[in-house]
Amino acid sequence: MKLRNVVVLLLFVLVVLQLYCKKEENIDMKLLKQDFGSVNGQAVELYTLVNTHGVKVQIATYGGIVTSIQVPDRNGQLADVVLGYDNLDEYVQNNPYFGCIVGRYGNRIAQAEFELDGVSYSLAANNGPNHLHGGLVGFDKVVWSAKPVEGKDKVGVELTYTSNDGEEGYPGNLQVTVTYTLDNENALQIDYYAVTDKKTIVNLTNHSYFNLNDAGAAPILDHQLMINADEFTPVDNTLIPTGELRSVEGTPFDFRKATAIGARIGADDEQLKFGGGYDHNFVVNGQAGELRLAAEVTEPVTGRAMEVWTTEPGIQFYSGNFLDGSITGKNGIVYQQRNGLCLETQHFPDSPNQPEFPSTVLEPGDEYKTTTIYKFKVTE
Ligand code: BGC
Repeated sequence: MKLRNVVVLLLFVLVVLQLYCKKEENIDMKLLKQDFGSVNGQAVELYTLVNTHGVKVQIATYGGIVTSIQVPDRNGQLADVVLGYDNLDEYVQNNPYFGCIVGRYGNRIAQAEFELDGVSYSLAANNGPNHLHGGLVGFDKVVWSAKPVEGKDKVGVELTYTSNDGEEGYPGNLQVTVTYTLDNENALQIDYYAVTDKKTIVNLTNHSYFNLNDAGAAPILDHQLMINADEFTPVDNTLIPTGELRSVEGTPFDFRKATAIGARIGADDEQLKFGGGYDHNFVVNGQAGELRLAAEVTEPVTGRAMEVWTTEPGIQFYSGNFLDGSITGKNGIVYQQRNGLCLETQHFPDSPNQPEFPSTVLEPGDEYKTTTIYKFKVTE
């Protein structure tokens, strides 16, 4: 080939490459809003956040539910990685907390009771003798007000809700803001904020069920999990922490090196029996209040992976033990036991009754502020 031809060919390749890159740049982030039906006469909206890589997150104003997260596999193939339903009515009728914001107190409170300054507060016992996830009508079952958020290289939605003094038995008018933002690093950030006018307790989390392979069609037992925790909080047979911080060393709870979830889930271990699998709070290493890596999940078939970063002291790893095939979710997929996993960043369960645990008390004038990031990536 003559030198001139080579130069022309090179120039041609350069022009094509440039056009291609321009096209990439031109995929704008998107923020869309659509109707998602209504609950008790209250309109519900569905927000769609899309980043420049086509990663798409949908959030309903009912329960602040993350209804879908579409992320690429190692071949760039986008697929939904969270469990849920196709429509609002199904979420309203029967939701085992798919994708929602959990509050006012995420996780369990023993005997559905706690005390503040000598005053005893009674809550709904909606999980055996205990209180779970904020009670009968927790933050997962209310309609939040929404406002779009658009910043440099991010799109999001800010949700607000005022929980009245006495609602579900909790003291104080609590004003809550939860902001979801998606950036171009494929990170979904959740910022939680609350203030109260009377001393109360708060513990907010998100309850997404992930399956990085097939949106919940098969168990998550082959997912590799790393949890950055030297200790976990063992529980009694009603899943209330005993108060002990137990070393994970030499137990099926040692996920400091990435391990298949199924590798030890059937071990002859009292804690696994109580949980019916993993349903335990881990004490995240490092300083609570600072954003640090709490967990990482990798799915070997698709190469999809997710990092969980948080400022919270704990993370509940729940291996979807109570899914039992009775729910048919999105796209007709039947959710059998362990077809999804939750990594719920949080303060420890039953903290209001366990003075040794980091406090979940919020005083008037103070601000409740936590951040959690679910960051998606691929591995070889
Ligand atoms: C709890 C499980 C519970 C599930 C409800 C998790 O946060 O730890 O015990 O069954 O939520 O979906």
